[in-house]
Amino acid sequence: MLLTRAPAKINLTLHVVRRRPDGFHDLESLVVFGGVSDILALDPGRPLGLSVSGPTATAAGDADGNLVLKATRALAARVPGLRTGAFHLVKRLPVGAGLGGGSSDAAAALRLLARLNGLPAGDGRVVEAARATGSDVPVCVEPRSRMMAGTGDRLGRPLMARPIYAVLANPGIHVPTPAVFARMGFQPGESRDLGDHPVPHDDLSHAEFLALVGGGRNDMEAAALSLAPAIGDAIDALAATPGHRTVRMSGSGSTCFALYDDRRRARAAAHLLAGARSGWWIRATALR
Ligand code: C5P
Repeated sequence: MLLTRAPAKINLTLHVVRRRPDGFHDLESLVVFGGVSDILALDPGRPLGLSVSGPTATAAGDADGNLVLKATRALAARVPGLRTGAFHLVKRLPVGAGLGGGSSDAAAALRLLARLNGLPAGDGRVVEAARATGSDVPVCVEPRSRMMAGTGDRLGRPLMARPIYAVLANPGIHVPTPAVFARMGFQPGESRDLGDHPVPHDDLSHAEFLALVGGGRNDMEAAALSLAPAIGDAIDALAATPGHRTVRMSGSGSTCFALYDDRRRARAAAHLLAGARSGWWIRATALR
């Protein structure tokens, strides 16, 4: 049995640059990964399949449409004779929540299949299969903090030396990504200058990293908020916790995050929030 974690992906910044002729949007986003995750197991002795359990399994929908199987089929189409097996996914992350759960699950499947088949790190066929599975899958294949550009196909080098501490808060609503992009109302080919956004250089210090985050934005936040006003409640609730730094939405929502100087402050804030908002999904975690 092979096992791996599929960690939550958090967009610390997300700048929407333009709408491409193919309808997708070019982005620039600083992506990190949390200590909260789904878990994926692969039993190579059995026929290809997927079973799902865990607290958010029902929301994840039917196994046939799952990105784990889509990624497996994409890799099998590129690697003749690919050995597969029976996957089991323990789904713990909220679904459709801006945490890239499905993308991270797909990337976890590619890691397990690469391990099973002895494919080298960075194998071009794994990268291609990741791109074919979904825009956020490539950045999740080797989950470390980095800049992502284009539709997610261009990745920078790992950036963060030390972890940062955060609370993730999901107000229990699902926001479909295409609806948020549509609400932003870009015309085909349209670019928008939504203001300066800092671009990192290599070897950022911890302080420079935090300044980069603080100076950034999530360009999807206003559109997501207009579709799902509960996102505003999550932002307000995080911004009311003692010691918070940057507060922002991740991805296309609905999960929002607040950053803190240390683990103790993050845990205290999560505890406080969980007491006030019993229906929300709230976690304190280190981001890397
Ligand atoms: O690539 P993925 O299947 O995750 O994208 C889902 C949808 O989100 C796309 O069909 C597209 O409508 C939108 N999208 C986009 N620009 C991106 C990523 C996704 O417009 N960079």
